[in-house]
Amino acid sequence: MKEKDILILGIESSCDETAAAVVKNGREVLSNIISSQIDLHTLYGGVVPEIASRKHIEKINQVIGEALSAAGVALSDIDAIGVTYGPGLVGALLVGVAEAKAISFATGIPLVGVHHIEGHISANYIEHKELEPPFMSLVVSGGHTHLVKVQDYGVYEILGRTRDDAAGEAFDKVARAIGLGYPGGPKIDRVSKEGNADAISFPRAKVEDSLYDFSFSGLKSAVLNYLNSCEMKGEAYVQADVAASFQKAVTDVLVEHSIAAVKAQGFRKFAMAGGVASNSALRAAMDEACKRENIELYYPSPVFCTDNAAMIGVAAYYEFRNGVTSGLDLNAVPNLKLGER
Ligand code: KG4
Ligand code: ZN
Repeated sequence: MKEKDILILGIESSCDETAAAVVKNGREVLSNIISSQIDLHTLYGGVVPEIASRKHIEKINQVIGEALSAAGVALSDIDAIGVTYGPGLVGALLVGVAEAKAISFATGIPLVGVHHIEGHISANYIEHKELEPPFMSLVVSGGHTHLVKVQDYGVYEILGRTRDDAAGEAFDKVARAIGLGYPGGPKIDRVSKEGNADAISFPRAKVEDSLYDFSFSGLKSAVLNYLNSCEMKGEAYVQADVAASFQKAVTDVLVEHSIAAVKAQGFRKFAMAGGVASNSALRAAMDEACKRENIELYYPSPVFCTDNAAMIGVAAYYEFRNGVTSGLDLNAVPNLKLGER
């Protein structure tokens, strides 16, 4: 007898995207609706938490309704609701969590709280049907830079993390400094194609006592110092060269640490995730390094790299399949650690 399909409604509101999706059997995305607030926050040069929360409240019902209708299903067809409950902006997270709890309370549909990083990693399962744990993963987003050992579905070990800025945060700060504005990552990616990545030698920061940890604040300062010194000398800097040289400094370190971790841990499979994983230079450099080292590389399409609810639905499916559900006392946890419940 054919097993019954499991449909998950995923909800994501941890930062500046209000998103809902319907996912079938953990791998098939039936709908993926994302309402981005980027235009609003661009006015302020970054995400304003209070504005983000208010916008989530305005949009969330509509986004969930669209996700259900685009998938051609009704709420009564849904087997579980997966929602991001951390980490992220507390006010923003609370909107998704309260919404998911209200639907769960009203309908009796089970609730599954999802860790945002687990969601990012799980985005890889959508387009790579053959990918299964164990594998090594690099999560590079606006808030995180983590090297994670994915031992099984829902079982993670963090091998390395950033000691200061996240990779995406560095992209956003440097973009602002060179006048590209918010959000910086995609803009640096685009402008760098016109620049010379070897024009300026920026530092590749090593963390003394750790092979796998990252540090990007020194690189950010080096870029600011470079811009200052150009200004003092009355020289104009070449925006595309600064962008490309900075991007190269970030990608070199990400590639080096990732390959070292994959090899040292004896893995053959490696998956990238998070907004920065859509960076074209990082993808190209990682492609080349993995080919050289005979490592199977995975990354999601850009739409599944940046924040979305399909990835939350996928992660929730595997938790739900493992018998993990959350109570109606589920709360937003802004600094939630991976692997904690
Ligand atoms: O995963 P994400 O959407 O949100 C977080 O969980 O933080 O990541 C957003 C981050 C931002 O810092 C953005 O600048 C960066 O991902 N990003 C990129 C690119 N696209 C998005 N960074 C570099 N290159 C890109 N193409
Ligand atoms: Zn994210």
